[in-house]
Amino acid sequence: MNKLKLAIVGCGAITQGIHLPVTALSNQVEVTVLVDKFLPRAHELADKYGVPVVADEYREIIGKADAAIVSLPNYLHAPVTIDLLQHEVHVLVEKPMALKTSNCDEMIEAASNTGAVLAVGLVRRFYGSSQFVKQIVENGLLGNILGFDLREGIIFRWAVASDSMFRKEAAGGGVLVDIGPHALDLLLWWLGGYTSVEYYDDAMGGVEADCELHLRLQCGASGVVELSRTRNLRNSWIIRGERGTLEVGTGFNPLIRLKTKNRDVVLAGRVARDGVADKTIQDVFRRQFDDFVDAILSHREPFVPGQEGRRAVELVETCYALRQPSKQPWMFLEGPRHGALESALP
Ligand SMILES: NC(=O)c1ccc[n+]([C@@H]2O[C@H](COP(=O)([O-])OP(=O)(O)OC[C@H]3O[C@@H](n4cnc5c(N)ncnc54)[C@H](O)[C@@H]3O)[C@@H](O)[C@H]2O)c1
Repeated sequence: MNKLKLAIVGCGAITQGIHLPVTALSNQVEVTVLVDKFLPRAHELADKYGVPVVADEYREIIGKADAAIVSLPNYLHAPVTIDLLQHEVHVLVEKPMALKTSNCDEMIEAASNTGAVLAVGLVRRFYGSSQFVKQIVENGLLGNILGFDLREGIIFRWAVASDSMFRKEAAGGGVLVDIGPHALDLLLWWLGGYTSVEYYDDAMGGVEADCELHLRLQCGASGVVELSRTRNLRNSWIIRGERGTLEVGTGFNPLIRLKTKNRDVVLAGRVARDGVADKTIQDVFRRQFDDFVDAILSHREPFVPGQEGRRAVELVETCYALRQPSKQPWMFLEGPRHGALESALP
């Protein structure tokens, strides 16, 4: 069988750390082109992985690749994906799928017009723990869901190759548009749609480092999602139902704790599928990539198609439209009133 020709567009941190090591393991795919506007980086990775063609412009891949992973700065996800889909190139686009819901709709339409596969890189759906939570909620083990609480934050240490994540016009925002798609996608996937949201952040005209969402869901549950790039938070979900409470860490192989009226069960934390537990984050990305390839070869929908990637984008967009400033510590400080401070100045 001829191997699928794959291009990777954007050779930054995620491509270097994840996409190239993962795609190199596939025997159904051959990476034929690497694209980055900063050519030395693309050349270095091409040499390491034996990729024959390097380009500084994504359009170079048209005719040279059957499929592409788009791992560019956020603002380029929609235009590049739409153009590639229109040229019948199958696309796995990194999260966030796009910065606007209207762009998601254009991406979905381009895929449907040409029959090309559009998969969205919401990799946490492939965590064994995420699928486990989905089953527990759907099977009614917790009863009706009453509330949820996510606190996710680590002091930022992702080794970015460019500054795009910190420029508002390139990233579209800060922690909400970066971590939010993963977290909000799981929330909507597990518990269903939302009816209202209040949103607070510290953007003050720039990109937010910390944010908080207060949500009410169609199922009647309400709760909080707090995200931070500046603080190490609890890093777990708590989902409270009529019959019990589930706590699950946000990592790929987390501790899972189920508390019912009479029992407190700590599940070993390794959710095995087909007898195999994911040992590294690359293992999970491999599941995502294998699903993309299988969707292409079997002419089926990927596990996270455009319609589903769109939901988190819609919620992020709504939050930014409703943004309220979060209270900062200095707003609560007792101190000299402005008049007194001014009179002390020369
Ligand atoms: N799924 C995940 O968990 C995950 C994790 C990290 C990053 N991501 C996503 O992947 C994307 C890339 O993130 P990253 O951390 O690799 O960023 P990065 O800053 O490290 O890399 C971006 C790369 O894109 C290149 N680039 C910029 N404009 C270009 C253009 N017009 N044409 C070609 N190349 C261009 C830059 O030179 C750089 O090499 C982001 O959208 C991010 O949200 C997803």
